[in-house]
Amino acid sequence: MKGNINTVSFILNGQRKTFNVEPGEKLLALLRREGCRGTKYGCGQGTCGACTVLLDGRAVYACLLFAMQAEGREVRTIESVGTFENPGEFQKELVAAGAVQCGYCIPGIVMSATALMKTEKDFDEGIVKEYMDGNLCRCTGYEKIWVALRRVLDRKAAEKPAPKAAKTSGKGAKQ
Ligand code: FES
Ligand code: FES
Repeated sequence: MKGNINTVSFILNGQRKTFNVEPGEKLLALLRREGCRGTKYGCGQGTCGACTVLLDGRAVYACLLFAMQAEGREVRTIESVGTFENPGEFQKELVAAGAVQCGYCIPGIVMSATALMKTEKDFDEGIVKEYMDGNLCRCTGYEKIWVALRRVLDRKAAEKPAPKAAKTSGKGAKQ
């Protein structure tokens, strides 16, 4: 006999939804059974990053969160970033750089990069490492993944408006 069933409501990829959940069910299990199969099960212990999704814009390991912890929040999975037919900007660069081998790590890597691009204004190496070091790839040696990511980040940095020139006199001028 199954345990008690509860419900959890949250915004999944832009749509408010309510799901049945069993006690102790992990967010990763719920997402996968509800069709978000791009979110992968790797280690199940918070070390590989294959299950990375965004929770209120922050990259989190869905294998460590209980489904109930998503109550009232916003969850984004790889399905909201791009599809095979219509890939996102970073996904296109990954393919162009030949950075995808088995591909198992790629959705998690894309989600961590999505959090980075949405949250940070500067993409220096320290910040990039902070966002990306929780995502492991056992195939590629990372080099081509970083090449693809750097292409996107450099483009985004170049698109940023130039800082306004500081005033040299007058009230409120920065010294
Ligand atoms: S499956 Fe979640 S971190 Fe590995
Ligand atoms: S491409 Fe295989 S784990 Fe990264």
